[in-house]
Amino acid sequence: MAISKEECSSLYLTATEALGNAYAPYSGFSVGVALLTSEGKVFTGCNVENASYSAGMCAERIALGKAVSEGYRDFIAIAVAGSSGAPTPCGICRQALYEFAPGLLVIWGSSGSDLHCLSLNGLLPEAFGPLDLK
Ligand code: THU
Repeated sequence: MAISKEECSSLYLTATEALGNAYAPYSGFSVGVALLTSEGKVFTGCNVENASYSAGMCAERIALGKAVSEGYRDFIAIAVAGSSGAPTPCGICRQALYEFAPGLLVIWGSSGSDLHCLSLNGLLPEAFGPLDLK
């Protein structure tokens, strides 16, 4: 499903707001995301780091876990915002999102006036997914 330019901008704005809750004392790099479901619901996430570094969690997988744990599995788009630069989902997050939404629209940018969009298929080509286990 396609979404309008206005919806992309609004989702990105929500991601920048979620970034404010990031707990990133070790990397100093905050990430916020907004994940849109086919029902029109938006789940936000931010990165949550830990003194035991590998226990830290990415913003994308937090939003995904929030959504799936509340019964939402059909996703249209995710917007990602970072405290600097224009981060895209890391490899593990791409894989986690691919499980539910290979065609997910990924939106990122350094500001609301510099947005980029690509399907998750394009960010994770030849991915391994549920069908490979059939
Ligand atoms: N981070 C995310 O939350 N999402 C990404 O896709 C990229 C990386 C976080 C993890 C860590 O807390 C910080 O950014 C620096 O890697």
